[in-house]
Amino acid sequence: MSAIRRVAVVGCGGMGRHHLQVLAELEGFDTVALCDVSTEALQRSGQEYGIDGQYTDIEAMLDKAQPDIVVVGTQTRHHHGPTVAALRRGVSVLCEKPISIDLVEADEMVEAARASGAKLAINQQNHVNPAVVKARQMIDAGAIGDIIMVRGRNKHGRKSGNEFTEMGTHVTDMMMVMGGTPVWVSGTVTWEGRAAEVGDIMEAKQMSPKDRDSGLVVGERALGQYGFAGGILGEIQFLGYDKTNGDNYGVDILGSEGQLAVRATGTLPGGLWHLPRTMEGSPADFGDWQAVDIGEVNGRQNTMVHMYRAFAQAVEADVEPPGSGAEGRMAFEMILGIYQSHREGGRRVPLPLVDRRHPLKAWQSEAK
Ligand SMILES: NC(=O)c1ccc[n+]([C@@H]2O[C@H](COP(=O)([O-])OP(=O)(O)OC[C@H]3O[C@@H](n4cnc5c(N)ncnc54)[C@H](O)[C@@H]3O)[C@@H](O)[C@H]2O)c1
Repeated sequence: MSAIRRVAVVGCGGMGRHHLQVLAELEGFDTVALCDVSTEALQRSGQEYGIDGQYTDIEAMLDKAQPDIVVVGTQTRHHHGPTVAALRRGVSVLCEKPISIDLVEADEMVEAARASGAKLAINQQNHVNPAVVKARQMIDAGAIGDIIMVRGRNKHGRKSGNEFTEMGTHVTDMMMVMGGTPVWVSGTVTWEGRAAEVGDIMEAKQMSPKDRDSGLVVGERALGQYGFAGGILGEIQFLGYDKTNGDNYGVDILGSEGQLAVRATGTLPGGLWHLPRTMEGSPADFGDWQAVDIGEVNGRQNTMVHMYRAFAQAVEADVEPPGSGAEGRMAFEMILGIYQSHREGGRRVPLPLVDRRHPLKAWQSEAK
């Protein structure tokens, strides 16, 4: 058993408290400090989890608490500051998703990790979801032949603009686990039944006040297509359904000899199904999907535990963690690339994106 890791959690809101709960139940991790700009949030979590080290300033926290790992659980607009502050001191960071507000920030975060040698991971925790890991193993063992297409599937419950930053990078991250490195994207975004225009761009909070402060968004519905290195195709749909359905959330992998369906959360047990033939056929055929035993029951709590263990192992072994900063950045580029392509009439846009500005900000400034 390796040494106990000293953990500090920045941002003690909804997700920060979820991290605290997971950490409290996890062996090998000791939460030594909390940081939040709200003293109320600090006191609440401090009391609940018995943590005396409470700070409103990240630099003071890093000085005094000397953590081995910093968890950044602030809203997306506030990921960059604490992440870079910790990485520059050589402290490894598990940061919430999506990585940042734009790619300029994401580049700085990835570079800060590279320069110091500290590790950065983005908590797109389904990267290590047992169903995702098992699907990858089955693909590598040839269970469905060659991969032809990877289809991302959303929970929905939001307009596409908000879905992009709330759920989108979770889905594109799972798509990359199956498809590899994306090399192009093409996309279409609609608003009120027509192609979205520059005047339709708004802040995420304006589109939905109950969602998080995750920067500029546009659109109610969107389609994205991808090409992965090696010729695998990808597809994702954001259809703006009002209703959320966790059973829909995951990724389908269509192979030359069969298919896999991963469902990352939801009410279904397990989370991985295998179809030993290529085409679905008619709905009457659905009975021949077979549940795959992944060795445990699916669930967000378990997946976070896997994420923490994998992250700590990577820090100790001095290797890139699963869901690394570079992977988290590409998951976000796959989403932002839909905007860039839409703006260019749906043309295939190379990934990584050449222009690192937020595509919607660039669109606004060039339309003036
Ligand atoms: N991985 C997942 O499954 C998952 C699920 C839910 C949310 N999230 C992500 O978690 C993040 C946080 O979302 P949330 O709903 O918990 O937000 P929240 O608003 O509930 O909590 C954010 C907390 O950060 C504090 N804060 C703000 N600026 C700060 C700063 N500069 N330094 C320190 N503290 C600061 C706020 O006071 C607040 O307590 C978002 O990026 C969201 O996308 C991830």
